[in-house]
Amino acid sequence: MNPLVIAPSILSADFSKLGMEVASVLHAGADWIHVDVMDGHFVPNITLGPPVVESLRRSTDAFLDCHLMVTDPLEYGRRFARAGASGVSFHLEAAMDPGAVIAALREEKVRVGMVINPGHAPEELFPWLDRLDLVLVMSVWAGFGGQSFREDAPKRVEILANEIARRRLPTRLEVDGGIDPRTSRLVRDAGADTLVSGTAVFGRPDHAAAIAALRS
Ligand code: DX5
Ligand code: ZN
Repeated sequence: MNPLVIAPSILSADFSKLGMEVASVLHAGADWIHVDVMDGHFVPNITLGPPVVESLRRSTDAFLDCHLMVTDPLEYGRRFARAGASGVSFHLEAAMDPGAVIAALREEKVRVGMVINPGHAPEELFPWLDRLDLVLVMSVWAGFGGQSFREDAPKRVEILANEIARRRLPTRLEVDGGIDPRTSRLVRDAGADTLVSGTAVFGRPDHAAAIAALRS
């Protein structure tokens, strides 16, 4: 079992003072910073590009966990890696050739993750598991923060946790969407070790209390 990682998602932060918000959650006990990249095509929303990751990279040495919700993960996986991402996670359903994206990210020396939206069976990740550092199970449909947790997520997490354990892989199991103190417990009990949380952290003035509540 990997040590628990809490990764606040900056999608719910105040972008007019992003550097301060990131410093605040890191000071408050966050382990990683989850950076939601949306291109307006793979999802009906647009967030940020490589320049923002370049700025964040200059302002912190924290692990930048970049979640690419883009239609071209091969091109943009490389671009965000070169901008300073520590890890790049891409959606299986967005990649024409997932193996090529994994190889490209390996060349860029970043940690490699694969993501599935709620409509995809966890078993779809099985063929890729031993080539990944991380798998991300979405507990909401990718595209927006502040959505309600899908109660079918723990079962999907458990299916992947069991397969990772069966193969004795070190792969991190990340969950993203609607994670708060209640749902954090549900997905950790199912085997998740890496939790993304936007609203439940940046939506609360006391970041340390918010992060501690996700760990309890
Ligand atoms: C949604 C993003 C999530 C989202 C999480 O597409 O991938 O990371 O920002 O935000 P909350 O925790 O508010 O659901
Ligand atoms: Zn995300």
